[in-house]
Amino acid sequence: MTNSIPTTGEGPGGAEADALAARAEAINKIYGSGDAEVVALDDVTVGLGRGRFTAIMGPSGSGKSTLMHCMAGLDTVDSGRVFIGAVELTRLDDRRLTRLRRDKVGFVFQTFNLVPTLTALENITLPTDIAGRRPDRDWLDTVIDAVGLRDRLRHRPGELSGGQQQRVACARALAGRPDVVFADEPTGNLDSRSGGEVLSFLRDSVRRMGQTVVMVTHDPVAAGHSDEVIFLSDGRIVDRMPGPTAEKVLERMKGFELAGGGAAR
Ligand SMILES: Nc1ncnc2c1ncn2[C@@H]1O[C@H](COP(=O)(O)OP(=O)(O)OP(=O)(O)O)[C@@H](O)[C@H]1O
Ligand SMILES: [Mg+2]
Repeated sequence: MTNSIPTTGEGPGGAEADALAARAEAINKIYGSGDAEVVALDDVTVGLGRGRFTAIMGPSGSGKSTLMHCMAGLDTVDSGRVFIGAVELTRLDDRRLTRLRRDKVGFVFQTFNLVPTLTALENITLPTDIAGRRPDRDWLDTVIDAVGLRDRLRHRPGELSGGQQQRVACARALAGRPDVVFADEPTGNLDSRSGGEVLSFLRDSVRRMGQTVVMVTHDPVAAGHSDEVIFLSDGRIVDRMPGPTAEKVLERMKGFELAGGGAAR
């Protein structure tokens, strides 16, 4: 894994496309119409390097969740193209899109979204069960040990702490060995200790398992653990920071606030 993987998609094909787990090319997303029109994404081009940990930051309403949903195939774009690996998901019909999402994409929501009646283990293997695939036992063991929940596998979500539930959600996202894991404020509902546990797990999944992870966060410390921070404002990418530290990220956020970029929560 080198640090020189390009993170901007300069066009399809070639070695560069191979180095990218996912990319968006000039995507636009508008909600509503007339007076109620909101430009959520305004000509966004971005590539997510394979095996890299990318953080997305920006004020509330800047388009972070929209970008994640569009890149994960959970929402459609109005124009532009989205690729997971070499596959252009903006060209897929519903059936193929569902399959690609199931096989290639993991998503961690801010509110864990676990099934309350299933045990931790059943939640983790649910996507592969639905897909009718047998989970790779070795991989599953690796993921379960990495989230540190081996002794909680038979517990239901209601019997787990917030941090443990979110770690189950992370394990579920990784269990199918997706090409990319999208995590939308995965630590947003957690206290700092539980948030720290989830963050270390996501970071370790990149460092030790070569996973590609992109995470929305408002926390400069969390962003400081990433390989690169992408800053969004008003639906546009306004800055990128390779090799971030918490201090540098905080400085940059202050700069946005002074420039009238809105509250960064
Ligand atoms: N379904 C929708 N219908 C109409 N407008 C929407 C919809 N979803 C999002 N928006 C608008 O699009 C813009 C971007 O929203 P988005 O959820 O991507 O922001 P965000 O950066 O994730 O914010 P937050 O930090 O609060 O989660 C916002 O102005 C929001 O109001
Ligand atoms: Mg959001």
